[in-house]
Amino acid sequence: MEDREQKKNELWLTQGAGRDLILGQAMDLLDSVLDYKELIMGYACAIKEINTKFEVLDTEFGVRYKRNPISSIHTRLKSQTSILEKMARLGIPPTRENIENNLNDIAGVRVICAYIDDIYMLADALTRQDDIRLIKKKDYIKNPKPNGYRSLHLIVSVPIFFAESKKEIRAEVQIRTIAMDFWASLEHQIKYKKHVDQAEDVIARLKECADEIAHVDQTMQEIRMEMDRIKEKPSD
Ligand code: GTP
Ligand code: MG
Repeated sequence: MEDREQKKNELWLTQGAGRDLILGQAMDLLDSVLDYKELIMGYACAIKEINTKFEVLDTEFGVRYKRNPISSIHTRLKSQTSILEKMARLGIPPTRENIENNLNDIAGVRVICAYIDDIYMLADALTRQDDIRLIKKKDYIKNPKPNGYRSLHLIVSVPIFFAESKKEIRAEVQIRTIAMDFWASLEHQIKYKKHVDQAEDVIARLKECADEIAHVDQTMQEIRMEMDRIKEKPSD
């Protein structure tokens, strides 16, 4: 806030004759730029919070069970252009309030796990935390999309403590296995390069791959569970 006031004052000092019109436009522009920076800052902080929560869970699990459930974590902030495009698609004026109330995926956290049961363990451990509020859950593993896409999606909100205020900020969390991520990454590349919706054969083969991958995921999980039942060899 102080930053904005200071910059406005600087503008006042540097403008000459006929300044009112120019000044008005410049102030609007400055307001929107600073507002945007503040808006994005909140989402960037939400990403940090959620990222740390998953890192903590991974560390705890590693110590307790000598196995790390998380293979990698990827985060992304929606770009200004994508935010404006999505608001235009929704037909809603892109004010700060409208953006905050209508977009759930400005902050994105993708967690890649080893096994299917790790996905649910992590989702439960996250949503049980008393500062996390679960807004929406989409289980595309139990109910895959018609094209074969699998992943667990959570929309959550997390409180962010700033110097003088606290704000609940929403984020989209996608949790999937390495195998599901492999399929989704390649499908995304293929889909965005060409008009796949016009190639029925490609759609069917991609779906076949997704189902095969799901079968492999299931088998790998069964193997691990069997190994868990076998007693560990005493170390030398
Ligand atoms: P958006 O408006 O795209 O945010 O979709 P939505 O609100 O219907 O959400 P949904 O949970 O279905 O999907 C959100 C995100 O999941 C997308 O932005 C992708 O990252 C991922 N996703 C969903 N469906 C697919 C798919 O068929 N293929 C791939 N590769 N990714 C997908
Ligand atoms: Mg999205």
